[in-house]
Amino acid sequence: MEQETSILNVPVSVQINLTDGLMQPFSVHDVRRVTQLTEQFSDQAAVKNAISQGDPIVYEIYHHLFLTDKSDMAMGMSVISAGTVGKEYYMTKGHIHERDDQAEIYYCVQGIGLILLDDLQDDFQALPFSNGTAVHIPPQYAHRVVNTGSVPLIFVSAFHQAAGHAYDQVAKKGFAKIVIDENGKPELRSNPQRLNALSK
Ligand SMILES: [Fe+2]
Repeated sequence: MEQETSILNVPVSVQINLTDGLMQPFSVHDVRRVTQLTEQFSDQAAVKNAISQGDPIVYEIYHHLFLTDKSDMAMGMSVISAGTVGKEYYMTKGHIHERDDQAEIYYCVQGIGLILLDDLQDDFQALPFSNGTAVHIPPQYAHRVVNTGSVPLIFVSAFHQAAGHAYDQVAKKGFAKIVIDENGKPELRSNPQRLNALSK
């Protein structure tokens, strides 16, 4: 049930189904298909092919905003489907926070994959991210989750709404590495998009 966001200066709870990632109630529900990730996936022929084959859902997000007069905490629940576009695993778009003082926590409740953390300068890390892993994302690190398993990867995020989501800056530069399915195993490869951005 979608609920209008209003300021509530009293305790509030929501219910999360850890099996399918559904949050009740929620403030926002977004469905992101291959069409919404054309800039992110590296194999453009595979992108076109996936879109023509029914444009599958790559991931869904539910958000709940806990607004009070003095705070703006938010919680997200993301469900990344299992699959690939070409050889590249399904993943989130990836963003960096607009505000430079805003961190975030991700907690994986189901599945197996990687979390990519990139300061878009000289530090890139791909950390294992599976059922039970909690990761603190420091300010000014772009973040993306990749599902390298065969079941949906579900994770919870906790952040301040005022952090803001900047997608364009990350989409333009690209993460330093992409994650490819090589004979059923994940492998990291240099992102051709990042190499192009550097040579410009
Ligand atoms: Fe974030």
